Order: sequence, then C-alpha cells, then structure tokens
Amino acid sequence: MENLVKLTIDGVSVEVPAGTTVLEAAKKAGINIPTLCYLKDINQIGACRMCIVDTGARAFGAACVLPVANGMNVKTNTPKIREARRVNLELLLSNHDKKCLDCARNQKCELQQMCQDLGVDDVDKYKGKMNEYDIDDLSPSIVRNNNKCILCRRCVAACNNTQAVGVIGPMGRGFKTKIGSAWEQPLNDVACINCGQCIAACPTGALYEKDSTKAVWDLLNDETKTVVVQPAPAVRAA
Ligand code: FES
Repeated sequence: MENLVKLTIDGVSVEVPAGTTVLEAAKKAGINIPTLCYLKDINQIGACRMCIVDTGARAFGAACVLPVANGMNVKTNTPKIREARRVNLELLLSNHDKKCLDCARNQKCELQQMCQDLGVDDVDKYKGKMNEYDIDDLSPSIVRNNNKCILCRRCVAACNNTQAVGVIGPMGRGFKTKIGSAWEQPLNDVACINCGQCIAACPTGALYEKDSTKAVWDLLNDETKTVVVQPAPAVRAA
C-alpha cells in the first residue's frame, strides 16, 4: 500500500505519497509557489531559492527539493518569505546584464516576470563587480550570452538529460561560475546538434535563436554576389 503523508500548506490539508516535494504537494492543493531553476523531473536542484517556504525550521527551505513530512505546517506566502524572495531576486540581478529593451526575451523573460510579480523595481540595489563575458554567436542557430545567465542550469539539464547530447555544463567556481563547453569552446566547435532545447529551457535571454534575416537580406541585395536557389529534389515513385 502507498505510504501517504499528511501536511498543511497555507492552512490547506494535503495528503500526498511519501517522497513528494513540498512544491508538488502545494500544486496539488492549488497553491502556486514561484520557481526559476525548477523544471519538473529534469532539473530539481534547489539553486535559485525563489521557491523558499517556511516550515518552522531554523532556515527557510527550497520547496522544489524539500520532501514532505507528516504533520508539516508549511507557509508559502508570509511577508518574511516574500521579502527573502525579493532579496534573492535582487542578488540575481546584481550580476545580470539588464539591457532588457534590446534583449531577445524582452516581455517573454521569466526573470523579468518574477520581478513584476514580486514588486522588484530597484534592479540596481546591490551594486558591485559584474562578470563580463564575450557573446558566443558562432553557431549557425544558437547565441549564448552568459551575461544574462542566472546559473539555473535548466539548459544543462535539457542538453544532458532530455537530449543526451551533453555539450554544456557548469565551469569555474564561485563568482566565476559560468555555463560553457569543455575547454571554453564555442557551441559551434562542440557536438551541439542545434536542437534548440537549451533555448526552450532558458528562463532569460542567455540563450536565443540566431536571427539570420539581416544576413540573408544583405546577401540577396548584394549585386556582387550570385545567389543560386537550388531546386527541390524530385520525388520519385517507389
Ligand atoms: Fe526551487 Fe529554484 S525553484 S530553488
């Protein structure tokens, strides 16, 4: 028989199988807890701390990796929790390239949305040294801008776990941690299959599709070059 655990989340009684995380139990109770690094089943690493909740323990716990326990009393939306989430967000922004207006993900960015949801409007609260990375745009289809990366590792999970390609991963330590490929090679020089799953997983503008429209337009308008349009191959009957 399934081992069930009973707990209370924001005053709502929930019963879930043992081993369920507080985040999943809250979903079952219809309670939304904000997340950034979490991707169901492929990236549950408790990295961003946006999903912190109060269980009465000495420190807040990350709901995405916190297993439920019998009799647990979880609070997900107290003033202290909201303030702690805001500080986490402000710290993420302290090392984030905030040129949102010309970002490929402007208005479709989870980080931007989270700032709106949590009422973070001072995006420069914690001023200090910021990493400055070169943009890797050598791939025919994917651009990586590590200046916008929040190290959630969702792209790494998509590349390694979903696609089993495994050409990107975390490198370096502490402040210098970044997502990259072995020997700092650009995406174009590793076995990237250009599937774009890393882009789909990225919550910010750290990964985006290359826009070749201008290059194609320039080529079509360059009278010094001849553009040969290949006819589609004939389909033969079997
Ligand atoms: Fe739980 Fe990031 S969503 S720590």
